[in-house]
Amino acid sequence: MTGPITDDLSFPPLRIGDEAPDFTARTTHGEFVLSSLRGRWVMLFAHPADFTPVCTSEFIALSKLEPAFRERDCVLLGLSADSLPAHLAWISAIEERFNVRVPFPIVEDPSMEVARAYGMMDLEAQNSATVRSVFFIDPTGIIRTIISYPASVGRSVAELQRVLSALQEVDRSNILTPEGWQPGEPAIAPPLQTQDAVQKAGPSWFLQPKKPRS
Ligand code: BEZ
Repeated sequence: MTGPITDDLSFPPLRIGDEAPDFTARTTHGEFVLSSLRGRWVMLFAHPADFTPVCTSEFIALSKLEPAFRERDCVLLGLSADSLPAHLAWISAIEERFNVRVPFPIVEDPSMEVARAYGMMDLEAQNSATVRSVFFIDPTGIIRTIISYPASVGRSVAELQRVLSALQEVDRSNILTPEGWQPGEPAIAPPLQTQDAVQKAGPSWFLQPKKPRS
């Protein structure tokens, strides 16, 4: 493909709370239907291109920490516009060179159908690169978090783990999570809704701790 990709206005931007667009695609683990993962959390993440340095560093880190996502019943699903043979060659090279097996499926998206539906295209790129998008999709198929990094900046897998933990704790305990929250740390109560509740809570009524359910 030559020249920059133009924004496709037939796909309005996805927002938190939208249903994740379903798709069927070839992946390194066989054909995959996104909606077949209902009932589990999904972290769908795009990378600009195979065989690139930042993406390789991310894949090594994601592969090493995949068991922690699996423990939280979250399926990792990578994606780029590159072809299935390119994905297969890349993950073989990662295993050979870095002794790391990539345990999650990678979607091929040569037509960029999925990338367009999710707004993952890199409008500044001169090719089919996608930005470093991350979509957390909950067990009911709803998008709960959207994160986008440019091609030049690698993501923090620890932060992605933290976001997943926070989303799950928010659902489990009806709490909010403060800045930098980590599992096991105190959380925050949802905002008070009545004058009585505000009076009862005292001067710190606008920031009340609340313990997650044990
Ligand atoms: C990288 O992953 O290293 C990369 C990908 C696309 C553009 C620049 C860097």
